[in-house]
Amino acid sequence: MDRNLALEFVRITEAAALACAPHMGRGNEKAADQAAVDAMRRAFDSVNVDGVVVIGEGERDEAPMLYIGESVGRKGPDAIPVDIALDPLEGTTICAKGTEGAISVIAAAERGNFLHAPDTYMQKIACGPEAAGAIDLELSATENIRAVAERLRKPVAHVTVTILDRPRHEKLIAEVRELGARIRLISDGDVSAGVATCWENTGIDLLMGTGGAPEGVITAAAMRCLGGDFQGRLVFRNDDERARAERMGVRDFDKIYRLNELVKGEALFSATGVTDGPLLRGVRTLTKGRVTTHSVVMRSQTGTIRRIEALHDLAKKPK
Ligand code: FBP
Repeated sequence: MDRNLALEFVRITEAAALACAPHMGRGNEKAADQAAVDAMRRAFDSVNVDGVVVIGEGERDEAPMLYIGESVGRKGPDAIPVDIALDPLEGTTICAKGTEGAISVIAAAERGNFLHAPDTYMQKIACGPEAAGAIDLELSATENIRAVAERLRKPVAHVTVTILDRPRHEKLIAEVRELGARIRLISDGDVSAGVATCWENTGIDLLMGTGGAPEGVITAAAMRCLGGDFQGRLVFRNDDERARAERMGVRDFDKIYRLNELVKGEALFSATGVTDGPLLRGVRTLTKGRVTTHSVVMRSQTGTIRRIEALHDLAKKPK
């Protein structure tokens, strides 16, 4: 995948983050999300790709923009054909409350290389490069934590697991506590939390539990760039969700998807912080209409990870 695309994609996630950041803490999730979606959609028009959204804001009948199947990008001569997985505002509640870890995110892969994940839940496990290969969703939480502790050469009591704070995780949390590992409960935003397992200084070793399936594919794209590991198993709440999944090509409802089945080939990942979080600082407003953004952009092909701090002059931005 073209390396210039990476920097173009940062502009898109920056645009979405800048647009939704003014909604931080204002309690209006819909308005925050809409601002991010509109800005991301507009920003795509200036990027010379021939993109198809495969993970997006929902199916066509439920999302007016950035819906699954929507074609995005300028599509000029030499436009690069890519599949896109995106979330203009990952952590709408986080943004609306002004808490930690909201990001704007895009991942890209060559055509056909992302799992077309339905909008259901996914049981997930993620770890950083040092523990890659040690995780297995077939095994219990206890077995996985022990295996990761061994790889990281630290006692189980020093392993930190991030888990979404949800009633559905009561048993998982009890098991991890019983084992004696440390837990970081988060209110939302398991993409940031998953990617954070690859950032040594975050102190997060594992992500476990069930969150959104589309977010799982986006996290997997980042893991391919960072050399981390990820597995996911779709979780269905009803027959309607199973039917949706079937329409998207899922045949085996119990299948455990490994990293290279979620994202094949090369991947590209760009994220910009909306609120401060484990990976990125959020959008900050300075004086005189100047605003800073903090992004990370990476490509699996080269393994380069760029952290980009940008200073924007809002008065000079195209409207
Ligand atoms: P949104 O960006 O759609 O608000 O998703 C936030 C999130 O916390 C994800 O990070 C996570 O995968 C999912 O929601 C968990 O879903 P639920 O809130 O239904 O438990």
